[in-house]
Amino acid sequence: MTAPVRIDAPARPDELSVWPASTVRRPNGDLSVGGVALTTVAAHFDTPVYVLDENEVRTRCRTYRAAFPDADVLYAAKAFLSRAMARWVDEEGLGLDVCSAGELSLALAAGFPPERIVLHGNAKAPADIETALAAGVGRIVVDSPSEIARIAALVGPDGRQKVMVRVVPGISAGGHEKIRTGTDDQKFGLSLTDGSAQHAVARVLGQPQLHLTGLHCHIGSRITEVKPYLAALRRMVGLMARIRDTHGVVLTELDLGGGHGVAYRPGEPALDLTALARRVRTELAASCTAARLPVPRLTVEPGRAIVAPAGVALYRVLTVKHSATSLFVAVDGGMSDNPRPALYGARYAPRLVGRASTAEPVTATVVGRHCEAGDVLAPDVALPGDVRPGDLLAVPVAGAYQASMASAYNLVGRPPVVAVDGGRARLLVRRETQEDLQRRDVGPR
Ligand code: LLP
Repeated sequence: MTAPVRIDAPARPDELSVWPASTVRRPNGDLSVGGVALTTVAAHFDTPVYVLDENEVRTRCRTYRAAFPDADVLYAAKAFLSRAMARWVDEEGLGLDVCSAGELSLALAAGFPPERIVLHGNAKAPADIETALAAGVGRIVVDSPSEIARIAALVGPDGRQKVMVRVVPGISAGGHEKIRTGTDDQKFGLSLTDGSAQHAVARVLGQPQLHLTGLHCHIGSRITEVKPYLAALRRMVGLMARIRDTHGVVLTELDLGGGHGVAYRPGEPALDLTALARRVRTELAASCTAARLPVPRLTVEPGRAIVAPAGVALYRVLTVKHSATSLFVAVDGGMSDNPRPALYGARYAPRLVGRASTAEPVTATVVGRHCEAGDVLAPDVALPGDVRPGDLLAVPVAGAYQASMASAYNLVGRPPVVAVDGGRARLLVRRETQEDLQRRDVGPR
């Protein structure tokens, strides 16, 4: 049933272009995803709810593997992680990027092979490093000078851990200031410009417990152009050549991070994955030839591009309010289940589902139920003029950094995650209940 998905395809200005490929229009204004009507999901699991199209996730994993046949593709778990997600990613042959003992433990509980896991983090807690070493993760990415000795000490005299060094290549890229990580004015990595990266490499090479396999960089997120990756790549190869010249060590791995941008609204640009793969391969070969280096094994770490377009968030409209200047459509979720609009000014294209309306579209602002004026999910969007309480609104491209960044603000429990595939809906993560929330509160009664 599911059409092949091309995540590198230019976004069609078609209203369903950003929806999962399995999305089908049904009678009475309904839509189905993965063969399951969204009204059915809402009826069975209540709202708000995140819907995740399993086949869309798997197809996107396969598209990456096909585009980068000679590279390691790691899924960035921070975008969304559950046991099922870890299984799908594993079964599709990807590795996993984790950045905490929590993400790592969940992946291990799902049976993810530790040797295909990479641990990141700008400030690794002792438990992060200890859990990673006990599990035997494939790589730990060193992000600060102080953790070099800490990791080495925890490895112990008889062990050896493969590590990479996270380098800040001095490239500015990314869809929002808060998610740009390629320049020196932010907290991640070790600077190429001021020599911290070179220093860290020397220190790692001086630790017999650590085996430096290569360099890592992640220049930012929501990047829609290939060029910044090529610029970063050239600087990274330049550093690899200097390491060879200074230390006589030829590094065999290069991790270019993730950050591949997707369209959130019809007509928005997305990173052309095929072009990225082709041009990175060509540039890597050319840069390495010029530097007289063997071509290192490449790694990429997409999070959003694997899972964002596979997710749909479903809400029920609670109130509709006309002010002098605006029409506010308030739903039963908000900044607790999707902080992205408030944090990054992220824009979405919500849509009425489950009711055919012939009313003229109006410009509305979809807001949440939380106690702040900034709790806006989607400003200035077109909705049918007769939008009313009880209606269902669906927000596509909801699979990344929504469930994973959700909070229980105002003691509203976090929504469930429901997988859809082949006409079947399965609960992956249950709704957070009042009981869950109150159980943590162990103070006096
Ligand atoms: N690798 C590393 C080391 C990262 O830090 C990240 C994301 C990724 C890979 C994956 O990036 P992606 O392909 O998903 O863009 N909460 C923000 C995004 C923060 C990204 C953090 N690091 C958002 O909702 O847009």
